[in-house]
Amino acid sequence: KHKKHDNKNRDDKIVIAHRGASGYLPEHTLPAYAMAYALGADFIEPDVVMTADERLICLHDIHLESTTDVEQKFPDRARADGRWYAADFTLPEIETLAVTERTNPDGTRVFPGRFQAEANGFHVPTLRAVIEMVQSLNRETRRDVGIYPETKDPAFHDAEGLPLERKLLDTLAEYGYAGRDANVFVQSFDADNLKEMRSVMGSDLPQIQLIEGSGDAFDAMVTPDGLDEIATYADGIGPDKNRIADTDGALVSQAHQRGLKVHPYTFRADQLPAGTRRLEDELRLYYHRYDVDGLFTDFADIAVGVIHPG
Ligand code: G3P
Ligand code: CA
Repeated sequence: KHKKHDNKNRDDKIVIAHRGASGYLPEHTLPAYAMAYALGADFIEPDVVMTADERLICLHDIHLESTTDVEQKFPDRARADGRWYAADFTLPEIETLAVTERTNPDGTRVFPGRFQAEANGFHVPTLRAVIEMVQSLNRETRRDVGIYPETKDPAFHDAEGLPLERKLLDTLAEYGYAGRDANVFVQSFDADNLKEMRSVMGSDLPQIQLIEGSGDAFDAMVTPDGLDEIATYADGIGPDKNRIADTDGALVSQAHQRGLKVHPYTFRADQLPAGTRRLEDELRLYYHRYDVDGLFTDFADIAVGVIHPG
């Protein structure tokens, strides 16, 4: 029987289903989120972008062509850079698209071994649909699974005049997510975006500063001064997992000293570090030796087996 997760107990370690059960089903689709729920994830992770008609949809990229058939359905709607931006399409248009499997730059599939999803009616969901599904499942199962939305490229949305973060906070409030103990984490790579939501928009929802594995601005975030600064506007960090391994876990204790949670990304069974045979072993290393508070994984079931056994 699944142990009920209580997010209000902040000592609990959590499993975050990265883009849903994206190791098994096409990322950011309702079936992938539902599968992650069924596998026992504590949080479902939608990346969030905005459409031309100011609707929030769940999509990793600000462009549509990486994971939909937009090129076939709307061949004349690319911008000069050859990309089809979600910001140029209305929600009714996006709802006509079929979700396709993500491919690598060389055209090969990221998950080559699994079944062909294209013919099976996967679509781009709205954030509302995801929240409603999770809340419906919570009522059904009496669990308390949370959502973990990421604001994708806030500077792009700002330049387009699209109020991504305002709409996200309003939507979360509408569905009852409020205050420090809300079963939600709002995450972004963009520090200014997190500061705006906290200080200007007055959000007191838990926030996570994502930190890429390289780059000067992100390197500065993992210094003592950088972590002090993050603690002024966020509740935790979501670093590339290599930043933890590279410091043999010191980054986790430095964050914990400042009261910051640590939720590294991304853990995949098909992308193990050299010398690691099984995803379980990598997950145990991070949960137990490095003492992270949670992690983003495409394989929620394996993480649940490690951290919520029985
Ligand atoms: O949000 C944590 C992790 O998901 C960041 O990576 O590129 O998959 O959004 P990405
Ligand atoms: Ca993400």
